[in-house]
Amino acid sequence: MDKKTSTKFIVSFMAALVAISLVLAWVMSRNYLKDSSKERKRIAELIKSIDEGQFTPDVNRGQRAYTQFCMRCHGAEGKGSASAPPLVGSPALAAKNEVLIKVLLHGMRGKIERGGRTYDMVMPGFKMIPANDLAHVANYIRNKFSQNKAVVTHKNVLEVQLKSVERNKAWTPEELGLTSKE
Ligand code: HEC
Repeated sequence: MDKKTSTKFIVSFMAALVAISLVLAWVMSRNYLKDSSKERKRIAELIKSIDEGQFTPDVNRGQRAYTQFCMRCHGAEGKGSASAPPLVGSPALAAKNEVLIKVLLHGMRGKIERGGRTYDMVMPGFKMIPANDLAHVANYIRNKFSQNKAVVTHKNVLEVQLKSVERNKAWTPEELGLTSKE
């Protein structure tokens, strides 16, 4: 191959690569949009079908979910550990329902100061847990570890889920307004 032919070859090869990646990106984004619109429809239908008046916080279900999913990091008494902040006195429990639900659904990552210690870790999200169980666990931790006794309902959780259907990473404390010290 002379120099001109090989330059031509390289240029067409690069162009082909760019074209292939564009097509791939297009296909992937279409699948992604289809998935999230299906999920949005599913949640919207659930919201319509539930009767909010029927929801009563269930301490036992809340405790069961807490023991299963949260205790290993936050401790049975919500005092936290080297790898997770205390829930006792947490501003996330004092915050409005939406903030607490967002933490439970998608987790949290970033620097916070709680109880005189600095944490800069990752909490995983729990959107795979049924929404009503997330509501029970939210009520359980508020009742046990916080002065804020406002009830989180099944519907509250679904509504936040619907709003944040495309969220696929943990929230930062800044996004949630949780940077302030305890
Ligand atoms: C793998 C350990 C781990 C598990 C399991 C876990 N968390 Fe967390 N959680 C953390 C960490 C770490 C943070 C702080 C993240 C940071 O540093 O930004 C946190 C933050 C929080 C906050 C915000 C605290 C604040 O003061 O801002 C709440 C509320 C919370 N978790 C509740 C829960 C609940 C409820 C569960 C169970 C459904 C749970 N966590 C499960 C590690 C965990």
